[in-house]
Amino acid sequence: MVNVVVNGVGTIGKRVAEAVKKQDDMHLYGISDVAQAGGIRTVLMENAPLHGTDLYASDSKGKQNLEEQGFHVNDILENILHEVDIVVDCTPPGIDKRNKEKLYEPNNVKAIFQGGAPDSVGPVAFNALANYEEAKGEDYVKVVSCNTTSLSRTLDALDKRFSVDNIVANLVRRGGDIPQDSRGPINSTIPVTDVPSHHGPDVKAVMPQLDIKTLAVKVPVTFGHVHMVNADIEEDVSEEDIKQAFRDQPRVKLIKAGHGYDSTGKIHEMMRDLERPRSDMPEVGIWEETVTVEDGTVYWIHMVHQESIVVPSNIDAIRAMFETEDSETSIEKTNQTLEIS
Ligand SMILES: NC(=O)c1ccc[n+]([C@@H]2O[C@H](COP(=O)([O-])OP(=O)(O)OC[C@H]3O[C@@H](n4cnc5c(N)ncnc54)[C@H](OP(=O)(O)O)[C@@H]3O)[C@@H](O)[C@H]2O)c1
Repeated sequence: MVNVVVNGVGTIGKRVAEAVKKQDDMHLYGISDVAQAGGIRTVLMENAPLHGTDLYASDSKGKQNLEEQGFHVNDILENILHEVDIVVDCTPPGIDKRNKEKLYEPNNVKAIFQGGAPDSVGPVAFNALANYEEAKGEDYVKVVSCNTTSLSRTLDALDKRFSVDNIVANLVRRGGDIPQDSRGPINSTIPVTDVPSHHGPDVKAVMPQLDIKTLAVKVPVTFGHVHMVNADIEEDVSEEDIKQAFRDQPRVKLIKAGHGYDSTGKIHEMMRDLERPRSDMPEVGIWEETVTVEDGTVYWIHMVHQESIVVPSNIDAIRAMFETEDSETSIEKTNQTLEIS
């Protein structure tokens, strides 16, 4: 049983903590934060997903803050790290690296970091489908961002079966998550003026064999990024071959626009009607009709639910780092417990 603490209980942290709680080979030792923002109050309420979980503060000022806000804080993180096997750090960019240097390294505890952390935070940029093996036995691993996770998953599906080259992905990114009202209202489309954008090199950190370039803009929506991808592929590959490769890839869903799911809003509604927790969609959703092969180039458009897509990789990263399961078993176990197709 691996003892896990989740530090930073915001958009990603609360979902990862809940996912850890659902695993029979992991124990959620506790959660940790510095202030009530991020919905801690809600997730700890009676009948809420993390009710009964021990709360820690990641420093003494955070303990004071949380206590002033009416929380019972068990202790500060540093005092319990000797009893913990791994911390999943879901704090904002900048704090992650500082936590590594001040808390995790001195206390000799393994840690997983998120997409906003610098690449230098650990030797492995991780995606469960593309490079599970590389995290085996490692002490520090970065689970790549939501955008990078979706590109790694879809490209891995094709790259392991056919040869893909000269990939170009155009990213339409959501302006902010639902609670991030500090980012809006935004009434603009904002280009990322660094061209090509950092997303290409981020994918290469997971799959160095790929030649990929990306461009990105930000738009005023909260549910999901959309990526338009094209890549060179062997000419005799058919559209059906590509679709089958996507169908065979775990955590990738082909969705038919013609069935009424012709926008991110309608896919969001599908998740709500399916009563998915928080209307999350950890799978990459590829619009089936967009999968096209023409003159040796494959095209498709997919959507990414930014708040939930990285959650299963965090669970698989724990198993890889402790070498408790092979990739196939871990991915299947995670999918079953989180009800991912
Ligand atoms: N949101 C997404 O769509 C998304 C997708 C993929 C990856 N990521 C990555 O995941 C990471 C976390 O992002 P997020 O969106 O979950 O952020 P978030 O919602 O702001 O959550 C971060 C949490 O960490 C807390 N925190 C701040 N300082 C802390 C400290 N010293 N110790 C412990 N907790 C602390 C924050 O509290 P306060 O609010 O009080 O500061 C907040 O509760 C980032 O690297 C981000 O790039 C995010």
